[in-house]
Amino acid sequence: MQTAPPTSILLGDRSPADFLDTYWQKQPLVVRDALPDFQSPLSPNELAGLACEDGVESRLILKDGGEYPWELRHGPFAPEDFTELPQSHWTVLVQEVDRLIPEVGALLDRFRFLPDWRLDDVMVSYAPTDGTVGPHLDNYDVFLIQGAGHRRWEIGTTPVENETIVPDLDVRILENFAPDEEFVLGPGDLLYLPPRVAHHGVATDDACMTYSVGFRAPTHRDLVGDFLQYALEQIDPDTRYSDPGLTPVEHPGALHDDARTKVHDLLHGLLDDNTVDRWLGEYLTRPTRDRAAAPPRQPLSAEALTDALRQGTDLRRGPVAHLAFLEHDDGTATLFVNGEAQALDADLAYAAPLLTGRQVLPADTLTPHLDDEAFVALITDLVNDGVLELDAT
Ligand code: SIN
Ligand code: CO
Repeated sequence: MQTAPPTSILLGDRSPADFLDTYWQKQPLVVRDALPDFQSPLSPNELAGLACEDGVESRLILKDGGEYPWELRHGPFAPEDFTELPQSHWTVLVQEVDRLIPEVGALLDRFRFLPDWRLDDVMVSYAPTDGTVGPHLDNYDVFLIQGAGHRRWEIGTTPVENETIVPDLDVRILENFAPDEEFVLGPGDLLYLPPRVAHHGVATDDACMTYSVGFRAPTHRDLVGDFLQYALEQIDPDTRYSDPGLTPVEHPGALHDDARTKVHDLLHGLLDDNTVDRWLGEYLTRPTRDRAAAPPRQPLSAEALTDALRQGTDLRRGPVAHLAFLEHDDGTATLFVNGEAQALDADLAYAAPLLTGRQVLPADTLTPHLDDEAFVALITDLVNDGVLELDAT
């Protein structure tokens, strides 16, 4: 049976509150032995295997030894692509490994002091000696966990406002990178970087595997654009501006108060709290990269599911499972699952915090509720939609 691991180890002797206050979105942090027992769940060969799979986003970056310096190749690759690589100076990177390998997904349960929706994915890289993606910056927060081998990091300490990129390369490399700090990280060590802090990691041996826990931060344009689309869909296409109470205007060229009030009211009406909340929950749980949960090959009966839970089998999230909830003043709740809102009445509202916010749902947190038919129906549906699955590991 798995329980949520303590985050205090991840952050050294800092509490999550101290970390957020001092470092989050502000300055880098190195934690030695953040995950003392961490052993890379993947070998370099297994990672290369993932990079050969259809539907998996992967890249190869060859600093030297490619067709030209800093060559970028996109997967899916063929196994021969890896046998033909040079001895050194390259990196393979695979996105969304948390969705592909449950042991990597479980790593996310170390980050439960942060809102779930902010987590994007775990990218895993392997590099032989001198492999690097070059000095660069990312627009997102990232926790870089050294999974195996060693990597020398050079980093800046403050976010860069305007960067200059080396022109005409496949990859975005900073032109004038002047690091403030340098150190080597080994297995279990962690580097947190706020958005836009420049960094340059270079493998110092042939075993270097780095796990990047990346975050998402929608642009204001993304947020507003998506809301406007949603709001548009709520409006009856046949309802028009109307003014049966119109009285003679003082000046025909003036935008008169009645018209302005009508339009202001229409727009303000779109920002009703319930509309915004529902849109936000749907937006933030919408699967990234247009993915959808895949139902299991064989549907599971409620009896089979409750039996498995009673025998101690945990539930865990399927590969595409974005969950969030909102509690309402009247005791009801809304559960958001992969971009869809589901109303939970007051008797079932307890299920929302129970089922969200973690990768693995331990059986013993669910078994006390197995006499509640509505609860069993809810989790059976989630399993049969492919959102949750029995943890076979
Ligand atoms: C890597 O894993 O090689 C690169 C990670 C990063 O610098 O963002
Ligand atoms: Co980076």
